[in-house]
Amino acid sequence: MNLLKSQPLPFTSMPDRYWWETLWSDPRQILVTLGLKPGFSVLDLGCGYGHFTIPAARLVSPAPVVGIEIDRPILEEAHQNSSALTNCSWLNEDILALKSLSLNKFDFVMMHSTFHGLADPIKLVQDITALLKPNGFFSVINWSPIPREETIWLDMPRGPKTEVRIHPNKLISTVLSASKDQLLPVQIIQLPPYHYGVNFQFN
Ligand SMILES: C[S@@+](CC[C@H](N)C(=O)[O-])C[C@H]1O[C@@H](n2cnc3c(N)ncnc32)[C@H](O)[C@@H]1O
Repeated sequence: MNLLKSQPLPFTSMPDRYWWETLWSDPRQILVTLGLKPGFSVLDLGCGYGHFTIPAARLVSPAPVVGIEIDRPILEEAHQNSSALTNCSWLNEDILALKSLSLNKFDFVMMHSTFHGLADPIKLVQDITALLKPNGFFSVINWSPIPREETIWLDMPRGPKTEVRIHPNKLISTVLSASKDQLLPVQIIQLPPYHYGVNFQFN
């Protein structure tokens, strides 16, 4: 019997819709900018209620899209929000147990506003590397490494505490090291006002 209960990563609770959906008012365009293409199979790690996953599913349909989320009620929202789609699967699982989930390989694995919660990103990056098809992408969106009191949205400071925000150079060196240079950064972009994105490609 497994007595260890999975826990959400620290500083990754799902933001309230009223500000998240105005900060990310066009998730489809963000995905297109990050290179998501029709026909790609997609895995979304820490998918929340599907704010990016569902536009991804519409874009790639009929290719399969899998969202993994540890919080069951939030995942239930994703399920309801996608009831008209036939290419979405929603898994109420811990992304730290990714390897045990027996998933097929993907063209595009995304992790948006969640990577900063990893205490030890090495193992997860290794597991992600093993799940990518040849030339597949690992797409990370992170909060920019600026003080939390400066990331004001709808009159409030937002996002994780300053100390856990990751500089893009640190993200890149971590992913290169964990993947033994198999995941190479192919795109680094600012996503105003307060995020950046890095796309890694599997070689
Ligand atoms: C900040 S939210 C971002 C959600 C989504 N990626 C987005 O950008 O709209 C992070 C999500 O990751 C989920 N999460 C945190 N730890 C997790 C874990 N160990 N396994 C699966 N999901 C997790 C949280 O419950 C939360 O819904």
